Amino acid sequence: MGEIANGHNGDWYEASEEVVAQAHIKDWKAVAEGADRDFVGFWEERAKEFIDWQAPWTKVLDDSDKPFFKWFVGAKTNIVYNAIDRHLKGARRNKLAMIWEGEKGDVRTFSYHALNREVSKFASVLKALGVRKGDRVTIYMGRVPELPIAMLAVAKIGAVHSVVYGGFSTEALHGRLEDSQSRVLVTCDGAFLNGKIVELKKIADEALKRSAAVEHVVVVRRTGHEVSMETGRDMWWHDLMGLPIADPKCPTEIVDAEDPLYMLYTSGTTGTPKAIVHTHGGYQVGIATTLKYVFDLRDDDRWWCAADPGWVTGHSYIVYGPLILGATSFMYEGAPTFPYPDRWWQMIEKYGINVFYTAPTAIRGLMRWGESWPNRRDLSSLRLLGSVGEPINPEAWRWYHRVIGKGKCPIMDTWWQTETGMFMIAPVPSMPLKPGSGTRPFFGQQADIYDEEGRPVKDNEEGFLVLKRPWPAMMRTIYNDPERYVKQYWSKYPGVYLTGDSAKRDEDGYFWIIGRVDDVIKVSGYRLGTAEIESALVSHEAVAEAAVIGLPHEVKGQSIHAYVLLRHGVQATAALADELKAHVGTEMGPIAKPEEISFVDSLPKTRSGKIMRRVLKARAQGLSEGDISTLEE
Ligand code: PRX
Repeated sequence: MGEIANGHNGDWYEASEEVVAQAHIKDWKAVAEGADRDFVGFWEERAKEFIDWQAPWTKVLDDSDKPFFKWFVGAKTNIVYNAIDRHLKGARRNKLAMIWEGEKGDVRTFSYHALNREVSKFASVLKALGVRKGDRVTIYMGRVPELPIAMLAVAKIGAVHSVVYGGFSTEALHGRLEDSQSRVLVTCDGAFLNGKIVELKKIADEALKRSAAVEHVVVVRRTGHEVSMETGRDMWWHDLMGLPIADPKCPTEIVDAEDPLYMLYTSGTTGTPKAIVHTHGGYQVGIATTLKYVFDLRDDDRWWCAADPGWVTGHSYIVYGPLILGATSFMYEGAPTFPYPDRWWQMIEKYGINVFYTAPTAIRGLMRWGESWPNRRDLSSLRLLGSVGEPINPEAWRWYHRVIGKGKCPIMDTWWQTETGMFMIAPVPSMPLKPGSGTRPFFGQQADIYDEEGRPVKDNEEGFLVLKRPWPAMMRTIYNDPERYVKQYWSKYPGVYLTGDSAKRDEDGYFWIIGRVDDVIKVSGYRLGTAEIESALVSHEAVAEAAVIGLPHEVKGQSIHAYVLLRHGVQATAALADELKAHVGTEMGPIAKPEEISFVDSLPKTRSGKIMRRVLKARAQGLSEGDISTLEE
């Protein structure tokens, strides 16, 4: 990734007077200095400013049991109270909370009042199905309004949602169901994507054959094609919502600030994905503040975060953040280029989107279709643009800035992670920008670049990106695996959070992300673990062993390359390579399909038997293999 992201420290983009005059944060230096002096005080003020609490905290930050930090200790709250309930009292009640458009152009809108009604009804249904506080509910859906509605309903009753991205397949869903032990699964018959149907229910049925814990499956009818419904287990969403159990009066369960809100699986350094746990209290403070400061979200704005709700970006900045701020969010079901490459630009024009947030891979993909597509649309409503998920190469940055933002919209490049819950390195609109840099740590945070021994490196030298202070939206643990939480994030440098990214900081204090240093691959901004793809390959009868690496890719950022050692007597053929790719697609999901499969006779390993992916990567790119003293083929 370093190839496209780095070394462009030259040109500054200063915010225009107009942008600064309108910005929520005008004097960013003063705010940064104040927050740096007293970060706990900074967050306490934000907690009062943006959030309503049912009971106050006794302590803002409890760091007596590091790294198990607690925020707003003793406070009572529920994120859904702040996202919905409190808006029902005044004029916001009739304001649009969500505008949704389907791939076919069908439109649905929800005022705060209407959203509350749907959420409350489904929350009552969940209760009737036996879901109680602390229970996990898995949600596996396409991008339809029922997805955020289901998330909010789960949170409303104090249960914990586990959203599995709708692009994942059988084994990925199964593993996540097993780990969370959810008794309820909410899914769809199918999802529309690129003019085709993704068979969500069919995939869920396969996964359920392998998972014993699920007792109830609620199915939203979206595509309308025939699916099998198991009597006693499967129920239609619309049937349940028509029953008296779907009571529109459902009180919001007031919980402790530190009670879990959701878990979200993500791939880490090794093994199967683990669920990151986020809580109600600090999380809502962190996401509301960052959305307000970085994207300057205003009451009359139309905000579009074009991510999928199934990833953290969607959790924080499609579902919870905008609702807490009382904004109007737009959500779109389909792919950006279907049926034409101006689908997104058409909707920015149609709905008058003011702030638009997407990933570099999407921008690079759309760039390839040329400027005439966006130029045919009126994009003048746009005020700010955003980027997330991977480093944005300066060429894509400039195109986004010039062609989409017409040179007047600052680009907020936000660096963060599933684990961080909120933006960690990001500018505010009044700050001067450099294409390709996420600028500085968010207010109150201190980031650094360490060498192997934990010494800060010099300016412009590459090293491990670390965060030195706790923040309110930080993950609290890994579900059922607190030891791994400590080991993976807090052990390399005790007391300091290890991000897993390599980065540089320039002489102006601006951070430049290079990419992951662990076994995580970023394909089109999606975070995938090598181990999970490898285990999908090995689950095929022809495969004895597999190693997977990510190589630079012009549009996707990285693409997946697999090295496969076949079982004795199996012939390496092109047809088998295709079959293996399809197999990974069925087990993990289409995004995890290897771009290329190479059949090999051996894999480079350490003497203790660990595959040296670093060596494979170097070989594939014709680079030096580095230190191979532990190598044994
Ligand atoms: O490598 C960084 C990259 O995405 C990783 C986190 O992935 P995930 O947990 O899926 O969350 C993605 C959305 C928040 C990081 O470790 N990353 C994320 N944002 C950026 C980025 N790399 C460079 N620039 C960014 N703005």
